Formats: sequence, C-alpha cells, structure tokens
Amino acid sequence: KKQATWGGRFKDGPAELMLRFGESISFDWRLAPYDVQVSKAHAAMLAHIGLISAEDRDAIRAGLDAVLADIESGALLPDIACEDVHMNIEQALTKKTPAGARLHAARSRNDQVATDMRLFFRDACGQIAGRLKALLGAIVELADKNRDVFIPGYTHLQRAQPVSLAHHLLAWAQMFGRDLERIEEVARRANICPLGSGALAGSTLPIDREFVARELGFVNAAGEPQVTANSMDAVADRDLFVEFASACALCGVHLSRVSEDGILWNSAEFGYVRFSDAFTTGSSLMPQKKNPDALELLRGKSARLQGNLQTLFTLCKGLPLTYNRDLQEDKPPVFDSFDTLMICLDVLAGTLEGMTVRPDKCAAAVADPLLLATDLADYLVARGVPFRDAHHAIGALVGMAEEQGVPLDKLPTEAVKQVNAAFEDDWASVFDLKRALSLRERPGMPGHEQTAAQIAAWRQRLQA
Ligand code: ARG
Repeated sequence: KKQATWGGRFKDGPAELMLRFGESISFDWRLAPYDVQVSKAHAAMLAHIGLISAEDRDAIRAGLDAVLADIESGALLPDIACEDVHMNIEQALTKKTPAGARLHAARSRNDQVATDMRLFFRDACGQIAGRLKALLGAIVELADKNRDVFIPGYTHLQRAQPVSLAHHLLAWAQMFGRDLERIEEVARRANICPLGSGALAGSTLPIDREFVARELGFVNAAGEPQVTANSMDAVADRDLFVEFASACALCGVHLSRVSEDGILWNSAEFGYVRFSDAFTTGSSLMPQKKNPDALELLRGKSARLQGNLQTLFTLCKGLPLTYNRDLQEDKPPVFDSFDTLMICLDVLAGTLEGMTVRPDKCAAAVADPLLLATDLADYLVARGVPFRDAHHAIGALVGMAEEQGVPLDKLPTEAVKQVNAAFEDDWASVFDLKRALSLRERPGMPGHEQTAAQIAAWRQRLQA
C-alpha cells in the first residue's frame, strides 16, 4: 500500500475500502479552478512575507497554471489515493516543481476548503442571478404581451375575481425577484476570507491574511480586505452552505408553484395556454397525448432542492467544534442544488418563451358574472350600505340567481331593488371588466396603469 501525503506517523497505508469510502475527489474535482486560485494567492503571500523565495513563488504559480491546464485538457485525472482535490493538486504540482513542497506552510485543508467554497458560492450565485434575470426578462415580456387578456384569479382553486393575465405573470416575477435578492445576499455574505485560520488555531508563521484576502477579491465596497474573525468558527462554519441551499430550495418552491399554474392552465379543463412541442412530451401508449412534462419535472425537482437543504441541516446539527470529517458530505448537496437550479431556471424560461395564450378560452372563463360579486358589494358600500349588509345582500342575489337559473347580472332590476333599497337602475353596470379593472388602480392592484408601471419598474431593475 502507498503512503498518503499525511502518512509520516503511519506504518501502513489505508485499506482500499477506506480509500473508496473516504475520497471526495469524485465530487470535489470541480473545485480545482478555485483551489488553484487559492493556492496561487497563498504562494504570493508566502513570498510577500519572505517565507519562500520569489523564484519558488513563480515556480509554484506557473506549476499550478500547468496543473489546471492538464485538468482541463483531461491530461491529469483524479487519483482517489490522494483523497481530495486539494491533495491531488498539491501532488501534481510537486511532480512539476519541487517548490510545491513549500506550498502547504501555514494552511490546512480545513481553511483551504472553506476558502475554495466561498469562491464557489460567489461564482455560483453570480451564475444563478444571471439565469434568474433571464427568466424574469421572459416573464416580463410575456406580461407585456398579455396586458389585455383577462382570466379569473383563483383562491381555493375556485374562480374568485378577474385579473389580467399580465398581473398574474407579474406575481410570478415578484417571487423570482425575491429569489434574486436572496441569492445576491448569499454572495455578499460569502465575501469574507477564511484562509489563515489553519486547521483551527491559525499559524505561528507571520502570515498576512489581508494580503491573501485582497488577492482573492475578498474586499468590501471600500476596497478593504475582509477576513474571518475567529479561526475556529471559520473552519467549522457551514452557514453559507445552508443559506445557499435554502435560497435554492425556496426558488424551487416558486418554480414548482409557477409550474402548477402552468399545468392547470394547459389542461383541457382550463385551456388558457398551450406549450410548444419543444417542452412537452408524448405518451408511449396514448397517441393523442401532449404532456407538460417540463413543468411536472420542475415541480418534482423542487423536492430535491428541499432534500438538499435538509441534508445540510442534519449534517451540521450536533457536530462539536471545529472541523469533523462529516463536513466532507457538505458538498454533494450544494453542488446538486446549484446544478439542479441552473437547469430548472433555463427550462422554465424556455417553456414560457414557447407558451401561447388562447384569448378565446380566457375570455369565456372570465365572462362569469359571479367574478364581480365583490364589486357589486362595493357598489352598495359606495352608496352608504355597511359592508356586512352589502355582503349579505349580494349573497341573497347570488342565491336567487342560482334558484332562477339566470346569470347574476340578468336578474330583474325590481327584484334586485327589493333586496336592498340602495340599488339603482345602473346596478348592472358593475358587470363590465373594463370598469372593474379601471377601478383597481391603487398601488399593487391589477389595473392597466398599475400593470404598465410594474412592467416599467421590472425593465428598469433588470437593466441595472
Ligand atoms: N476533503 C475534505 C472536505 O471536503 C477537505 C478537508 C479535509 N480535512 C481534514 N482534516 N481531513 O471536507
């Protein structure tokens, strides 16, 4: 058996089973670009404080670039005998230059992996933010095209009140807008450098933590380097992992709810929209079927995102400070949440771009006069009737219409006046969608001008 990098105090190498059990290279190999970046910054700092020569620094930095190039070209393959990305890279580097043996001074894989992951989070959050903006752009364009299409808004999945399709779509935009804020906040919180915390208690060597932080871009708005405040916390802390997975999981909930709206609207029972062939699939048996599988999978994938969050919560609970090897299990759920969310955001954007609205179906659904029963109550309130009495009166009219088998707006005016004396001859003017929407122009309401303002605000925010 081969001796491990840390094998000085061991007589024997690890069992083959232990190697297979303990390796993380099968999932942390993707950290290689960040690990190289961190090592280059560390080497620069070691030279800056005079612990290694400028020649060794340059040899290490050139060697690390060459290792990364070998990884990217496939010339260097991971070796599970080296456990993880950190030791694979260190070993490959040392094969290229003997100066590589000087690199690990004043650092541990514990602060190294914490730093690598912060670089990963910064990058991942930037990519997710880009995808969220693209999705928001698609939603806002769709809203813009559907300002004049009206559908019933629902509560309890029962037709409730009319809204424009645009207003419903812009409600989705709000959900993803909050996701964008959350993901940007995770990136902001990631922006602190743990390197220099060592295994848990720093180092006796005269390192310059601010130098490394600056090299790696861990700086605040004023350009000041940001370093973690407690070496034990810095290597034990996994809050960012949980926060990242949480932001992803909540975004997944939104993806799922939006998908459910789309699935309902696409069903023959609603029929408000159709999806393109590109994001639907057929049945192996039933020739007529065209299923909204993209949306169903989005609903399903959100379960995974929640599972990843739960995995991380459970992983951290009950761990004594500081680093414990359990923490190696922190990466698969984080990477899975990232990969899953990225493709989900693309798929929803693609599905919505291929969504066509069926105005006839929407118009038929929204023509139901019962959707304006609340507006009729407001009509009475505006004429001085207490709301509770108005509610009761409209309820009586709804019951009467049901009994007589006529639409609410077709009841005889005399009968209506008998229910409440505040009704006037114009009572049925309430049953006009344009009127209903034009009266809803206070902030956040579905009126035309409000919708235009929402769309303008989104365009401005997405341009910034
Ligand atoms: N592969 C390890 C992880 O992901 C790196 C840190 C190892 N530290 C240690 N003390 N064994 O957690």
